[in-house]
Amino acid sequence: MDDYWNHNTAYHRELVAAVRQGARVLDVGCGDGLLLQKLAGRASQVTGIDPDAAALSRARERFPQSSPVRLIHGDLLTSPDLEGQRFDLVTCVATLHHLPLIPALERLRDLLAPGGQLRIVGLSANASVLDWAISGALLLPIRVMSGVHRESGYPDMTTARPSESLTHIRDAAATILPGSQVRRRFYYRYSLTWTKPA
Ligand SMILES: C[S@@+](CC[C@H](N)C(=O)[O-])C[C@H]1O[C@@H](n2cnc3c(N)ncnc32)[C@H](O)[C@@H]1O
Repeated sequence: MDDYWNHNTAYHRELVAAVRQGARVLDVGCGDGLLLQKLAGRASQVTGIDPDAAALSRARERFPQSSPVRLIHGDLLTSPDLEGQRFDLVTCVATLHHLPLIPALERLRDLLAPGGQLRIVGLSANASVLDWAISGALLLPIRVMSGVHRESGYPDMTTARPSESLTHIRDAAATILPGSQVRRRFYYRYSLTWTKPA
């Protein structure tokens, strides 16, 4: 399966750049495995988890039989395959809004090894006048950039509308992941970065 560009893959480069030498990496909501494939070029151990069996089988096609990439068919919150596992980097792109926010943030925190980094690229709901104003102002520039990159959409992906505002996500992150950085980003996304104390 080929590479493609959309508002999620636009952030892949910075996520891949966050991989440190010898890192154990988990991609939550790995879908068809495009990010996993890019991470596998740098990490020593790469795991993806997704409950969508069809997407996972497309992900499997990206890797030869002998590949050490591990694909878990399951739910972030309940998969027994993640029990006792700890990762140096956990990525989660366009997936957090599919899950109950607080249990998901707690689970992501618990899956990190001390000193490990969480990198979320997420979607939030417009709730305030400011949210709507920013989205409106970005409409045209995002359309232009999507054209420049020849956006190919979201091939056979399970999608959902976000229901939580960025303010709500920021407040939850401040409690569960103290010191985390939540930033509004281009392409109607936010990023949340947190390093677990060593
Ligand atoms: C919009 S897609 C994003 C896929 C991929 N991360 C990307 O950026 O292209 C959201 C993904 O989250 C997955 N997902 C939904 N609920 C999940 C859960 N409880 N645990 C792990 N992944 C989940 C869906 O199956 C889907 O593949």
